[in-house]
Amino acid sequence: KRVAVIFGGRSGEHEVSLNSAASVIGALDGDRYEVIPVAITREGKWLAGVEPARMLAGGDPAQLGRPVVLPADPTVGGLVSVDGGRVQVGDLTPVDVVIPVLHGTFGEDGTVQGLLELANIPYVGAGVMASAVGMDKIIMKTLFARHGLPQVNFRYCSRRDWERNRQAVLSEVEQLGYPLFVKPANLGSSVGISKARSREELVPAMDLAAGYDRKIIVEEFVPAREVEVSVLGNDDPMASLPGEIIPLNEFYDYEAKYVEGKSDLVIPARLPAETMLELQRLAIKVFKALDCAGMARVDFFLRKDNGAVLVNEINTIPGFTRTSMYPKLWEATGITYPELLDRLIELALE
Ligand code: DAL
Ligand code: MG
Repeated sequence: KRVAVIFGGRSGEHEVSLNSAASVIGALDGDRYEVIPVAITREGKWLAGVEPARMLAGGDPAQLGRPVVLPADPTVGGLVSVDGGRVQVGDLTPVDVVIPVLHGTFGEDGTVQGLLELANIPYVGAGVMASAVGMDKIIMKTLFARHGLPQVNFRYCSRRDWERNRQAVLSEVEQLGYPLFVKPANLGSSVGISKARSREELVPAMDLAAGYDRKIIVEEFVPAREVEVSVLGNDDPMASLPGEIIPLNEFYDYEAKYVEGKSDLVIPARLPAETMLELQRLAIKVFKALDCAGMARVDFFLRKDNGAVLVNEINTIPGFTRTSMYPKLWEATGITYPELLDRLIELALE
């Protein structure tokens, strides 16, 4: 099968995507798959041929450990071509399936999924709607509430509300009680997120979040452990054993997430059996609430005061290096990294 792996992208998580993609490409079984690496630059330019391999392998495609397939048009990866200003989608190089290994905006949010739908190319992971909902924390949490899923209390506003009606926004948000977490609605990996312990900290936190996004979400802070569950499947998904993140920073921020040694994963999490089951049940409920497909990682809080489980968020394209939580949880549950890729490809073609 010809498998295109798309990575990079116009997102704050470009770098993370390169790491995930290098692991994925390195692990795809060479006897079964012909792999076409396709890179999207930070500016949104699509690259195929040796360039993407170079990006992954520190400049030397040979380091990638597999032959690189050269599509017909070296600038486009066989998916999109621009001809005299006209964009054409889809009919260049036949690709059996695409693995979008893109985290965050313009990749995990339904945009690339929409392009692949237009081109009639099967792809791994959630469809357009679930991807888009999963990327917008406000829509996601509103939907969780509709499904009766337990979560922290939150408020939200637009950048415009914040600019025009500061006092009104502050007094509404402060109903949650300090400390508060302030987040842009649409960015992943903890970019633009801050914790505010007072109004003095809340104002700059709101300004910061508003600088990243048109919409801002503010959540109550609940002292909690962070536990995650991997989900795999389409209509009848299964949940992995839960894993716990022990952050070494104050909260699980961008650095702690991606700088090695800044957080520890405990897999499986040390929890009572009934909590494990509850987490798995809720993870599947979340997956179905959004109508996800293929894979997702569902992140939870486990309240320190009363042990209650709260849903934090869903990631439809979770970090996918060999040491990332999503594949590690499957490994602990009995599915190896290469097997996981096989299953995801099968699910995409179902
Ligand atoms: N957004 C990162 C990649 C994750 O959730 O794993
Ligand atoms: Mg997350």
